[in-house]
Amino acid sequence: EKIVLAYSGGLDTSVILAWLKETYDAEVIAFTADVGQQDELEGLEEKAIKTGASKVYIDDLRDEFAKDFIYPMFQAGALYEGQYLLGTSIARPLIAKRMVEIARAEGATAIAHGATGKGNDQVRFELAAAALAPEIKVIAPWRDPQFREQFPGRAEMIAYAEKQGIEVKATAAKPYSTDRNLLHISYESGMLEDPWFDASSEENKGMYVLSVSPEDAPDQPEYLELSFEQGNCTGLNGESMTPLQVMEKLNELGGKHGIGRVDMVENRFVGMKSRGVYETPGGTILFHAHRVMESLTMDRDVMHLRDSLISKYATLVYNGFWFAPERLCLQALVTESQKNVTGTVKVKLYKGNVITAGVQSPVSLYNPDIATMEADPTQAYNQDDATGFIQLNALRLKVSAGVQQSK
Ligand code: ARG
Ligand code: SIN
Repeated sequence: EKIVLAYSGGLDTSVILAWLKETYDAEVIAFTADVGQQDELEGLEEKAIKTGASKVYIDDLRDEFAKDFIYPMFQAGALYEGQYLLGTSIARPLIAKRMVEIARAEGATAIAHGATGKGNDQVRFELAAAALAPEIKVIAPWRDPQFREQFPGRAEMIAYAEKQGIEVKATAAKPYSTDRNLLHISYESGMLEDPWFDASSEENKGMYVLSVSPEDAPDQPEYLELSFEQGNCTGLNGESMTPLQVMEKLNELGGKHGIGRVDMVENRFVGMKSRGVYETPGGTILFHAHRVMESLTMDRDVMHLRDSLISKYATLVYNGFWFAPERLCLQALVTESQKNVTGTVKVKLYKGNVITAGVQSPVSLYNPDIATMEADPTQAYNQDDATGFIQLNALRLKVSAGVQQSK
């Protein structure tokens, strides 16, 4: 039997690798998706082999992640519970997709992951796998009572790792859980479980990786121009760039100016509330600039229709339904809504803020001649028409007010 394991090289997935091999008497193929987690990837292949993997895949999925996952989601303007830009949620379906591709190519019967039994990630991995490869079995050791009994805490895992000859990093484990990719870093658990704990405090500065705090950002603002074509950012400051290049550059600039930190208590799909802190520097700039581009170029009713679907779309992504038919339906609508979202947005980055500094488009729907308070040379809008427009809209209000008064 062969099992493909989503492997990070950390203590958990290292122990899981050895445990799967032992428990299932299987060949374990370690798979790591490079979705932009950077330094975490160093020395991984060697470590996986030493831990007992029969084969290792470390696949650079960053271009695909930016182009086919982050970009379509940003066209939708997706935001979960008004704050979360879905950095972890959007990476999971891509990792699952590649994992089942490898499983098929290797003739593996199962895939395994190290997500806990209490979170969203297990749901996302498994729903994506179900939608793409229903014949493949999923093994979730953290939901296996035998595994949990064997490893009630970190101490047992470290002891097991040492016995298996797995090197455990001497550096003290961070007192919180993180997940990093091209779009964000998330922080959860540990001291963050107390919602009164101030994650923005001076004492907690050391936690952040992608951004400085707004207090420490430069006193000089920085201007940035983003080019859009059909709702996708295709270049910065006049230079054309791939989606991956755009995300990398926006992360650098956003991080420098303290942009994109979010601290929230969110509702997990599995029922509980959970406190999360996020750094999404580039995504926050892109999100803001994209909305500004739409303001100039998108038809009102198209915009309002799409807006009415944002929370639905975001919830689908959060809950792991990326490959579900309803997300694909919504995407078709979203993509169609972006046909005219083309032009350039100028923003000013300053101490945690993305400030609109200009917008222009060859296909702008904004016509100052029509909107002007001065005489309208186009004669497209006749003010007399407004009289009837208001009267008809007022009719039912007057009828209803009359009924109230005569009571
Ligand atoms: N709460 C966020 C989400 O559900 C982040 C999850 C982070 N995952 C992790 N394995 N650390 O999308
Ligand atoms: C986990 O439970 O593995 C991380 C948190 C989450 O998935 O929500």
